[in-house]
Amino acid sequence: MKSVALFSLFLFCVGANANSQIKGEKVEINVRELGSPGSVWPQPQHYSSTTQTYAVVAEAFQFVYSSTSHKCDLLTEAFKRYETLIYNNVATIKLKYFPRDVASIKTLEVDLMSPCEDYPSDHMKESYALDVADKASLTSDTVWGILRGLETFSQLLWASDSNQVVVNKTNIIDYPRYAFRGVMIDTARHYLPLNAILQTLDAMSYNKFNVLHWHIVDDQSFPYVSDVYPDLSIKGAYDDRTHIYTREDIAAVIEFARLRGIRVIPEFDSPGHSTSWGKGQPGLLTPCYSNGKPDGTFGPINPTLNSTYTFVKNLFGDVKQVFHDNYIHLGGDEVQFNCWQSNPNITKWMSDKNITGDYSKLEQVYIQNVIDISETIGYSYIVWQEVIDNGVKVQSDTVVEVWKNNHPDQEVAKVTAMGLRAIVSAPWYLNIISYGQDWHKYYQYDPSNFNGTAEQKALVMGGEACIWGEYVDATNLSPRLWPRASAVAERLWSAESVNDVDAAYPRLDQQRCRMIRRGIPAQPLYIGFCPHEWKNY
Ligand SMILES: *[C@@H]1O[C@H](CO)[C@@H](O)[C@H](O)[C@H]1NC(C)=O
Ligand SMILES: *[C@@H]1O[C@H](CO)[C@@H](O)[C@H](O)[C@H]1NC(C)=O
Ligand SMILES: *[C@@H]1O[C@H](CO)[C@@H](O)[C@H](O)[C@H]1NC(C)=O
Ligand SMILES: *[C@@H]1O[C@H](CO)[C@@H](O)[C@H](O)[C@H]1NC(C)=O
Ligand SMILES: *[C@@H]1O[C@H](CO)[C@@H](O)[C@H](O)[C@H]1NC(C)=O
Repeated sequence: MKSVALFSLFLFCVGANANSQIKGEKVEINVRELGSPGSVWPQPQHYSSTTQTYAVVAEAFQFVYSSTSHKCDLLTEAFKRYETLIYNNVATIKLKYFPRDVASIKTLEVDLMSPCEDYPSDHMKESYALDVADKASLTSDTVWGILRGLETFSQLLWASDSNQVVVNKTNIIDYPRYAFRGVMIDTARHYLPLNAILQTLDAMSYNKFNVLHWHIVDDQSFPYVSDVYPDLSIKGAYDDRTHIYTREDIAAVIEFARLRGIRVIPEFDSPGHSTSWGKGQPGLLTPCYSNGKPDGTFGPINPTLNSTYTFVKNLFGDVKQVFHDNYIHLGGDEVQFNCWQSNPNITKWMSDKNITGDYSKLEQVYIQNVIDISETIGYSYIVWQEVIDNGVKVQSDTVVEVWKNNHPDQEVAKVTAMGLRAIVSAPWYLNIISYGQDWHKYYQYDPSNFNGTAEQKALVMGGEACIWGEYVDATNLSPRLWPRASAVAERLWSAESVNDVDAAYPRLDQQRCRMIRRGIPAQPLYIGFCPHEWKNY
């Protein structure tokens, strides 16, 4: 009893403290003014609308193909998904009669002008045109553009004061500013059950993200079930029955993502971050020495053994069978040199190769081999920035991910000056939390704002919101990601000029409420309320 009383007192203090900080914040928002009904997130490139509205009766509404449209299962599935979403979103609004006296829209006519592609890829096109007038139509060259347009259309609907679901007369021509718009999840520090991953993909599609970067294994655990090396997960997973991803699990994630136009890129980070790999693959990691003998601990993967590369080749060959995308993330970050330094065999090997003392050369030998293996298997690849920082020579088609937050603009300038393509995640480590509206700084970071030529800027492929797993599992994944990742989504999709946080606030607030209605537990942006926020809880 006593402890309960103490606990409430503690809560009270925290609450009081929090209040005084809220008072100190500059932004004053009248909660009643929020909403800007039917606004779209991320903001389309070209958008015009009028105050004329059409009624939409969710129960009767349908997506239909135009007579000339290409058709495919992927789109027919999407029609069903969005019909359900629209219906569920407005189901709290009881409109049981069909309005006679107002203009209404019963269909959205979809015109896909080229045959469906099966899988999203690095060269996917996502532009679309959406016209809502007496007739509503959605047109795109690609199935991916149609998916983005369906999402936009679903966001245009809102409930008028008379409880009628309506859509404004609107014309939109839209396309992404960057081709690579990712969310990175980490399933090694904590295992994420499939449902958490699928929910993340759903939320990603609501924000027009198109890449799931799956940091699937790391020092702490190896949940990936390999057909070639089953011991990796048997010995390296937290639990080899419950905390693993089988082929079927991964196929389910890839299929769910494909239907939403999202690529799935796995990361097998090495030669560092690989402690868990060693449990199921003896001889892979470097034994560390102290006082002249192995001390029982292990360092990065041993780059001096041929057996290492046989292993990598077999493992990546297996990974390529399971993951459909053309890209793999090879990691390459935070390689510690001290264990390599301590091992006499490594020292001897380096001396034979005339690279004594130059451990970044040793790293280069490893990365070079792994890159060659990846290319042989048919993979294109992404690496973390250290690979470049350590002077590793890479092929010209390497994609470099910039994550260090001291001078990301300078790093992007350096990478692109070398003619390499860049992805930026430095400002977008959403696992790092702070009090207040930290989305402002995510929103205001522009990946192309660096000192470089037009050619260099063209090499910036986009960016990624990362949610590392040390303090994140399925309990807080979605609230911590959303709506903060939505700020990144708009930065990567919308025009460079769309960068005013005050103008964005009401739309982002509405996007957050929309995610709540759709069952994503997105945390609040700030004080206020959503009209239907308790529906799913
Ligand atoms: C949509 O129409 C309503 C009602 O006519 C109007 O108040 C609102 O400003 C319009 N919204 C947009 C984005 O044009
Ligand atoms: C390792 O591979 C290299 C290159 O194929 C070869 O020259 C060398 O003899 C091999 N070493 C061992 C110990 O098999
Ligand atoms: C070092 O190399 C020798 C000779 O190949 C081998 O017997 C020994 O196990 C190696 N030791 C370590 C720690 O790798
Ligand atoms: C290392 O350097 C020595 C002396 O310069 C040279 O004779 C030898 O061929 C070099 N070995 C390699 C592997 O480059
Ligand atoms: C931009 O880069 C150029 C060429 O490297 C350099 O001369 C210039 O000082 C840089 N400007 C800024 C503002 O950093």
